[in-house]
Amino acid sequence: MTESIRVYEMGPRDGLQSLAVPVSTPDKIALIDRLSGCGLRHIEAASFVHPRWVPQMADASAVMQGITRQAGVTYAALVPNLRGLEGALAAQVSEIAVFASASQGFSQANINCSIEHSLERFAPVVHAALAAGLRVRGYVSCITHCPYDGEVTPAQTATVSRCLLDLGCYEISLGDTLGRATPATLRPLLDAVLADIPASQLAGHFHDTFAHALDNVDQCLDYGLRGFDASVGGLGGCPYAPGARGNVATEALIERLHQRGWSTGVDVQRLAQVVTWTRHLLGADPHV
Ligand code: HMG
Ligand code: MG
Repeated sequence: MTESIRVYEMGPRDGLQSLAVPVSTPDKIALIDRLSGCGLRHIEAASFVHPRWVPQMADASAVMQGITRQAGVTYAALVPNLRGLEGALAAQVSEIAVFASASQGFSQANINCSIEHSLERFAPVVHAALAAGLRVRGYVSCITHCPYDGEVTPAQTATVSRCLLDLGCYEISLGDTLGRATPATLRPLLDAVLADIPASQLAGHFHDTFAHALDNVDQCLDYGLRGFDASVGGLGGCPYAPGARGNVATEALIERLHQRGWSTGVDVQRLAQVVTWTRHLLGADPHV
């Protein structure tokens, strides 16, 4: 039997959050419904952040209300604080994700506070989400490089990952926010993180700015990681990480995994149709 990989679809959130072109609520809903029709079992559908900080996500509640929920699909949303959690709970998300940074500069730029303050702020969020019966995923951004502070040490990333797990996150997604990580820079990082956290509680989130993402996935597979984030069509980036491109394209990740004999449950032909549909919707190169 082939071993299966957990694929986390980021397109509707990470993919759309920094696009300069407006995407209508019905189009976001159609995108999510098409993605769930491909066999993707985990879709990050929205984020309940401040609409002034990320205007593209301002319609998160309407998006969650409009989608057709498929059995067995997790519809997750990013939540920065208790105010965001209120919105996410009212919109009946199936899971939330909190997001910290391994570097102080990105933490300040992205969520307007230090790493320490962000962890204090996430504690009651995770507590309340778990009490409401939701699972909580944790992101650590800037695992090897920060757009403001430069290089990030493996120890910095390992420390923040441990803190998020201790708060109650079931898994840490290791975010190469800028897309600068390579297998060579990842190895010491994975050595440090895996000294403390089992591979089963880790996932990789690789932006593909310099086309290293698939090599980084291969490296993570060698280290035992079995979960990866990806964005349909390679869409996206972060408004507070200048120059970063989107996550590794879902279709490229699936192709690579299938070629190597892993199973994902994703229907490649249907996914290709969604890629075409998305390109048509957004134009050939919608990146900011
Ligand atoms: P702040 O301005 O410090 O917030 O922003 P505040 O707590 O001081 O509150 C100021 C006002 O905002 C108040 O309103 C709050 O009610 C309101 P007022 O009293 O002035 O009328 N407010 C909110 N309104 C709506 N929804 C909320 C909310 N919270 C407060 N949730 C904050 C702090 C965290 C809110 C802000 O910095 C923010 O929203 N940042 C989000 C940035 C973001 O979404 N970045 C992209 C996602 S992260 C990413 O892409 C990386 C990842 O993909 C992994 C990787 O690649 O590395 C995950
Ligand atoms: Mg990201």
